[in-house]
Amino acid sequence: MNELVWKKVAEKGTIQIGKSKEFEIEGKKIAIFNQDGYHALDSVCVHQDGSIAPEGKIEGDVVECPLHFWHYNIKTGELMDYLKGVKLKKYEVDIRDDGIYLDVD
Ligand code: FES
Repeated sequence: MNELVWKKVAEKGTIQIGKSKEFEIEGKKIAIFNQDGYHALDSVCVHQDGSIAPEGKIEGDVVECPLHFWHYNIKTGELMDYLKGVKLKKYEVDIRDDGIYLDVD
């Protein structure tokens, strides 16, 4: 079993409701969404390396890559068009009194 490696990535309130931000954490680009709770995914689109945050348009559980409009489920990372079984890596998010933490392992 993998151990959880929690890392503080931002202060609480950094990401407005309905928005996202991109963070660089241990060399990985990670998008955090504040939409129906907090969700975190690798932010690099599998198509041509577009960033799904902060410019990706969010509608419900879906974010649209701003470059060529591929769609991902922000809760699972699943790509919703063109290719089956493709996912962006998902990270667990923990909101604590002193900030937003991610399990970056
Ligand atoms: S880079 Fe994301 S859709 Fe093309």
